[in-house]
Amino acid sequence: MTSVKTARIGVIGLGIMGAGIVEVFAASGYQVIGIAENDQAVNQGKQNLAKSLDRAVTRGKLTDSDAKSLTVQVEWGTNFNQLANCDFVIEAAPELLDLKLEIFAQLDSVVTSKCVLATNTSSLSVSRIAKSISRPENVIGFHFFNPAPVQKFMELITTDFTASEVVQFAHDLGLSLGKYVAQVSDKPGFIVNKLLLVYLNHAVRLLDAKVATKQDIDSAMRELAGYPMGPLELIDLIGIDTCVEILKTIYQHSGNELHQPAFGLTKLLADGNKGRKSGSGFYDYAQKLEIPVSQNAEVKQAVFNELETAYLGDALAMESSGYAARVDIDNGMKLGCGLPVGPFERIEQIGLTNLREKQAALAQATGNSNYAPLPL
Ligand SMILES: NC(=O)c1ccc[n+]([C@@H]2O[C@H](COP(=O)([O-])OP(=O)(O)OC[C@H]3O[C@@H](n4cnc5c(N)ncnc54)[C@H](O)[C@@H]3O)[C@@H](O)[C@H]2O)c1
Repeated sequence: MTSVKTARIGVIGLGIMGAGIVEVFAASGYQVIGIAENDQAVNQGKQNLAKSLDRAVTRGKLTDSDAKSLTVQVEWGTNFNQLANCDFVIEAAPELLDLKLEIFAQLDSVVTSKCVLATNTSSLSVSRIAKSISRPENVIGFHFFNPAPVQKFMELITTDFTASEVVQFAHDLGLSLGKYVAQVSDKPGFIVNKLLLVYLNHAVRLLDAKVATKQDIDSAMRELAGYPMGPLELIDLIGIDTCVEILKTIYQHSGNELHQPAFGLTKLLADGNKGRKSGSGFYDYAQKLEIPVSQNAEVKQAVFNELETAYLGDALAMESSGYAARVDIDNGMKLGCGLPVGPFERIEQIGLTNLREKQAALAQATGNSNYAPLPL
């Protein structure tokens, strides 16, 4: 296997995540080839990168000359043959299994036998993708968070097929990008999206039920939880299409009604709203963005109590299932989503007994036993 230091990197799909991933690799000194399905998508990727670099220069995080030399490290195109000499290729195409399978089939016929093939999927089965090609041992999930250049956390998803040297290579590669790498097995939503998307979906269900306005919900979580964004703002940033697909995968696996994409999400998507990337979602991005504000203290407190209680309960359930360690869950939510504290740090603050009482009260008030505390 090639040394991580000299690895040539390919990135397929140059949208919100792909362009950010190109930037992360180029900023760490790698030569990168960015591929999308047509010239328009490639130009969009170039613009995404240019905008992000401009922002970094304006904020003093990058010099003008560093931004220019970083751009020179990137080759762009629409032809998979350009990836023939890559050592590591990551796919960041839309969250649709058939599309990803098609891309992996094309890659399989182009790259060398040593090339590590990664997917940035948020929730789809990495094993399913691995099994579809002639070298399942080379396939790994390499999951960045949005924005990729900013969030310091990443999930490395292994399958029963992944070769140990591939895991080591991908782990070292993640570390070389300055990320905290959590190694997890192949479960829908992995660590962070399993917790995050269920919380986001819950927020939309509160909106659907008209118990709060979008401003009540977003300002509740900004002000009372100290989150950098409210849940509806965050859905717009992630992309409503992506959120719906992740939830569908989680729901398919869990069968839990709380994981079924909320009506408000599917309705927005059916009307063509994908969030920021399409110009509108819960908010209209043609207008200057205002931070959502609400003076409705009582409603905000109720929203915060419900969303936080359910989310902390989910974190406890994830840990007790043995899927992930507390430290990785805490780091994932802090370094992957920018939350001020991890769920277990928060439980420490409020006390487990107190949380269990809140969970029981929520289960009773909603009539939904999914919110009840775990048996002792
Ligand atoms: N948006 C997020 O916050 C986020 C975070 C982590 C992971 N992800 C995952 O990253 C992946 C990409 O998500 P995104 O938000 O960047 O989506 P996006 O819609 O912003 O971008 C998708 C890109 O793929 C390109 N594409 C479409 N068909 C293609 C093809 N056949 N060949 C090559 N390129 C093609 C599109 O032109 C576009 O550039 C998804 O799997 C998603 O679940 C998203």
